Amino acid sequence: MTSTELGRVVPDALDLFDDAHRLDPYPDYRQLRTAGPSAVRLGDTEVTVLSRFADCAAVLQSQAWGHGNVDRLSPFWDQEKSLPGSFIRMDPPDHRRLRALVNKAFSARMVADLAPMITRVVDGLVDRAVEAGGLDVVRDLSSPLALAMVGQRLLGVPEQDAEQLRRWELAIARGTDPEPLLSPAEIAERDAAGAGVVGYLTDLVARRRAHPEDDLLSRLVAVEEAGEVLSVAEVIGICVLLLVAGMETSINLVGNGILALIRHPDQLALLRGRPDLAGPAIEEILRYDTPTQFTMRVALADTTVGDRAFRRGDGAIVLMGSADRDGEVFTTPDEVDVTRYATPGHSPRHLGFSLGLHYCLGAPLARLEASTAIRTLVDRAPGLRLATNELDYQPSIIHRGLRALPVELAPSTV
Ligand code: HEM
Repeated sequence: MTSTELGRVVPDALDLFDDAHRLDPYPDYRQLRTAGPSAVRLGDTEVTVLSRFADCAAVLQSQAWGHGNVDRLSPFWDQEKSLPGSFIRMDPPDHRRLRALVNKAFSARMVADLAPMITRVVDGLVDRAVEAGGLDVVRDLSSPLALAMVGQRLLGVPEQDAEQLRRWELAIARGTDPEPLLSPAEIAERDAAGAGVVGYLTDLVARRRAHPEDDLLSRLVAVEEAGEVLSVAEVIGICVLLLVAGMETSINLVGNGILALIRHPDQLALLRGRPDLAGPAIEEILRYDTPTQFTMRVALADTTVGDRAFRRGDGAIVLMGSADRDGEVFTTPDEVDVTRYATPGHSPRHLGFSLGLHYCLGAPLARLEASTAIRTLVDRAPGLRLATNELDYQPSIIHRGLRALPVELAPSTV
């Protein structure tokens, strides 16, 4: 592999981490897939970017790859600074134990029971937008929805604290990018937000222990009480994980989805009045413009991916955003086709929720939230169009999403 500057990869003209790339990373990803596994410099070390579907899927499902948190192998972050319950960066057996406990509190029944509330929240937000003749999808729909579900319903944070929670969440989400890519100011903001949210949640946990309510936090506290299995620090770590993994991603899925549909009016028209396509459309958006562009793994033993050898401790960026555009796997990969997933098993599974041990725990909730929001907006406001052509993306590299998405609803059609 050729030696590279910070953030630059082979082929040479490519910079995964610059602003121009952020607007439309997909042509760069195509070049990467052609080149195959490529080197990228991160701080003092070089890691490998995997961009082809077969390589990404293999690593996500391989026991030879993980996070190496116990031995602190990761070149991407300082494991010492990770919160105790943040099992997204752990390997078995710690990962298995914490995930199983959260699974118990995060049941399929609980998610199904949230459907009426999601519909109510979305209807209220879309009513307001229709009346106003337009909305900022991020500010007026996807953020309040995620705050209501993850913030209030799961974590039990009262509505008046929602904005503070969103500010903390944004700073922490930005701070989940590989540490060497963050500026000192971003690291300081992330750490301050982390301290703020931990202080806030510590207080909330104490209140829920004294007076349980009907939220996930109360159930997590009860899991801890019953079997003395979750420590307070672990409950808090899990809450911060749910906040970042659950909020930023859900907000971005709705924004990326509405943008993709507006840019593909034929697909928008196809979706309108077809509730049966709402679910498949979400899968297609997760494939076409996924909120989590990549994840990271470290080799836990000497191993190979395809014909490339890796040593224990080597790092890999697993670029799901590229894998899901791989023409070796998907037909017409750069087109939006809301019917692609309409027949189960017809199209290969996408990697938008990852694969293997760390497969997204919140996938059923994310699907329900996003399909309700997108279907309702598309049905009630058929004349959706962009209010601006200037798109401003969040600075994060892992998380792909817009800071704002102002749209107009054509008056004749609402
Ligand atoms: C569109 C929305 C979402 C997307 C695209 C998404 C994506 C992902 C991805 C890619 C991973 C795996 C990361 C890895 O393999 O390293 C993951 C893990 C996770 N997600 Fe999601 N997620 C979404 C929504 C949610 C929601 C709503 C929640 C919960 C409220 C949630 C909770 C989690 C948790 C706890 C994990 C860690 C699982 C583990 O390590 O075992 N996610 N998510």
